Amino acid sequence: MSALQTIVILGRQPALGLAELESLYGSANVVPVSEHVAGLAIPTDQIDLNRLGGSTRLATIVATVPSKLWKDAEKQLAKSIVEIARELPEGKLQLGLSTFGIPVTPAKLNASGLTLKKIIRSKTGRSVRLTPNPELELNTAQVLHNHLTGQTGIEMLIITTADGQTIIARTTAVQDIDSYTLRDRGRPKRDARVGMLPPKLAQILINLATGQKRSGMVLDPFCGTGVALQEALLMGYDAYGTDIEPRMIDFTGENLDWLDSQFGLGDVQMRIEPGDATSHQWEPKPDFIAAETYLGRAFTEKPAPAVIAQTSTEVNLIIKKFLKNIHDQLAPGTPLCLAVPAWIIAGGGQISSSTVRDAGRAPQRSVHEAYVSRGAQASARNVPRKFVHLPLIDQLSELGYNRVRFEHVRDEQLLYYREDQIVARELLVLTRK
Ligand SMILES: C[S@@+](CC[C@H](N)C(=O)[O-])C[C@H]1O[C@@H](n2cnc3c(N)ncnc32)[C@H](O)[C@@H]1O
Repeated sequence: MSALQTIVILGRQPALGLAELESLYGSANVVPVSEHVAGLAIPTDQIDLNRLGGSTRLATIVATVPSKLWKDAEKQLAKSIVEIARELPEGKLQLGLSTFGIPVTPAKLNASGLTLKKIIRSKTGRSVRLTPNPELELNTAQVLHNHLTGQTGIEMLIITTADGQTIIARTTAVQDIDSYTLRDRGRPKRDARVGMLPPKLAQILINLATGQKRSGMVLDPFCGTGVALQEALLMGYDAYGTDIEPRMIDFTGENLDWLDSQFGLGDVQMRIEPGDATSHQWEPKPDFIAAETYLGRAFTEKPAPAVIAQTSTEVNLIIKKFLKNIHDQLAPGTPLCLAVPAWIIAGGGQISSSTVRDAGRAPQRSVHEAYVSRGAQASARNVPRKFVHLPLIDQLSELGYNRVRFEHVRDEQLLYYREDQIVARELLVLTRK
């Protein structure tokens, strides 16, 4: 743990955030600290939180305590905060506390905050306003609203590690929620029918494809309204988008003009044209592929098993044809990150093995081995979810692709979905053989 310098608080689906960190900074520099917290052996000022779709907060580690008791953490907290307060410019200090895993109640946390306030006052003569918090963790909006990352702000994170230590860290940045909202809802052309990729998920796809490379061209062959292209351009990559529907290309064009007017894109190249991903020839050759592929029908209520099987067959065919078509157009080693559909069958049992087997995979394998896996995230009632996956996932090698494996995240954890969704996005991180 001593080599860790930075703490990252992971987003709603922490496995995606962890994979993203591994891709950007290398698995040796990333340590999972607890379910929602990762540590990095990299200085905080070298991390750009704005490009991380899967992380919500960045903090510098100031101390590690060899205990997981609140009273021990509290002693170190007082020392660390006094040192920090001495360095800050004139003005009333704003203090906030957020805990992750340490056994303390909100009332005790608040009482400790008031004690810390007195200690700072007596040791440094500075007055402090404590951010009120009925919970154990401040949310992003509270951190921003109370200026806790501002010049006279201090938010301290108190984090229990799996090996029974406590990390004390000071927040340096929180995600820019207003910018994400603008990039999601502010675009002139949106289309509920194609479904829109959340900008944070688009960033994750791009980071999983580009890894440590900071320039080059990102291709999205299913670009829709252009969210992946938008995020690639904002991250400084050139962007190339194609879509089978000319209307989508018009939408993307309008959205990217808007993006330039809002953010001033500078010296990046962009190219968009209509094209069927199963037959299109892309020129020039892209360096990376990041795409949310065709997801099939959007379901508003749980479909019958046969309908899932039929949709899966249809989508599987298109994506397989696309992978075959693009294979010979890519240089060996070209990375791809594809968000493909996986259907959630809550509680299990609603989909029979015979109907799913019709979806086109090796008939000798049983459905529960081959098609259905338990997801990493449990639902609200803590029932593990089950997913129906695309058959092509078992044929990637034959199709000419290697699957990229992560040290800290299992393949089946790379799933993105919201509580009420039926179609999840499964992230396939590949390289062309
Ligand atoms: C899920 S949407 C992608 C949405 C996109 N990520 C966005 O941000 O708006 C899938 C897109 O794939 C396109 N599509 C479907 N079949 C295609 C094909 N064979 N070739 C290219 N695009 C296709 C659809 O027109 C649709 O725009």
